[in-house]
Order: sequence, then C-alpha cells, then structure tokens
Amino acid sequence: MKKRPSTLAWTLCLFGVALLLVGYLARPEKVATPGAVAVSGSIGGNFTLTDQDGNTVTNKSWPGKYQLVYFGFTHCPDVCPLGLNKIAEALNKMPKDTAAKIQPIFITVDPERDTAAGLKEYVGLFYPTLVGLTGTPQQIEQVKDQFKVYAQKQGDDEKDYMVNHSSYTYLMSPKGPLLEVYSHDTTAQEMADGIRKWVEEQ
Ligand code: NI
Repeated sequence: MKKRPSTLAWTLCLFGVALLLVGYLARPEKVATPGAVAVSGSIGGNFTLTDQDGNTVTNKSWPGKYQLVYFGFTHCPDVCPLGLNKIAEALNKMPKDTAAKIQPIFITVDPERDTAAGLKEYVGLFYPTLVGLTGTPQQIEQVKDQFKVYAQKQGDDEKDYMVNHSSYTYLMSPKGPLLEVYSHDTTAQEMADGIRKWVEEQ
C-alpha cells in the first residue's frame, strides 16, 4: 500500500528546494571575460606594507576603489614592464570616470632590493596613479601567500640576481574579495573590457 508523503516530508522537501535556490542566487557571479583565467581557493586578504613615499598602507587604504594588483620586481627585464604597460594601456582604454575607480598596485617580490625610493622612480614610468609597495621580507611573504604568488630567486649573487615569478593581475572588489584574474597572455583590450564589466555594471 502506498503511503502519502507526510506534511513534514513535503515541508522538508520545499525547504531543501528553497536552500538550493538561495545557494544558486548567492553564488559569486563569474563574468566570462575572454582572456581571464579561472582560480580556485581564496585570494587576497589583509596586508600592511610600505608605499613608494615611505607611508605605511594597508589593503583598506583606498576606500571605494577596485584594486588592480600585480606582483613583480623593478630589476625585471621584460615580464614586469610588459605587465605594467598593459595595465596602463587597459586603464587608458577606459572612460576616465571608470579608470578613476581603479587603484593599480605593484607589489614587489624582491623587498631586499626594492626600496620605497626605488619603487617611486619605477612606478612613475608606467601610470600616474600606480602605487608601488614593499615591506619586510616577512610582510612580503605573507602577501605573496595570500595571493598565491610564486616567486623564486635565481642565482647566488647577493646583488645581481633574477627572480622568477608568476605574473597575474588580480582585480579585487572595493569590499575585498577577488573578482577576476588576468594572465600574462590577456590583452590590454580584454583586461579593459573585463574590468569595465565589473565596475560599470554594478
Ligand atoms: Ni617581472
């Protein structure tokens, strides 16, 4: 003999459906920007570093701005200059009021050589509002871990060495969480289009 599902069963079932729906609606919206790369795990977090003017800054030092974060080192022969030029080019391709909502940030993976003064000279070459951040080796290790950045010193010379490093650009929302990651192969146009989707449609 078939038993009719009890009211309790129906209630539980509806509750389950409601939970699924809430989960679906609350999922992070991923914009499929051509050239953007998929990432897993959490990226970013609280950091305290020193900017190119010697000021102590944190991840909360640019309230209301989207942070566009790139890691590298000033002695980098080509990867970093290309990456930073691409960021500048992407910002220049956007309407001015959109670009004004973006804070581009360069974080060194070579704190032993990249002093605040050295960074000041360097970031000025690329974009007027580009900020350069350095810190103690421990501070830099922490922020590298938070962004899952790979960086490895090459060679034994104390002063003349290379640093192999990953070269992703991270778009962080003003409230903190990661929105999108662009790779070295993402073009300036793709990056500009991707950023505009997040900044202009919200
Ligand atoms: Ni580099």
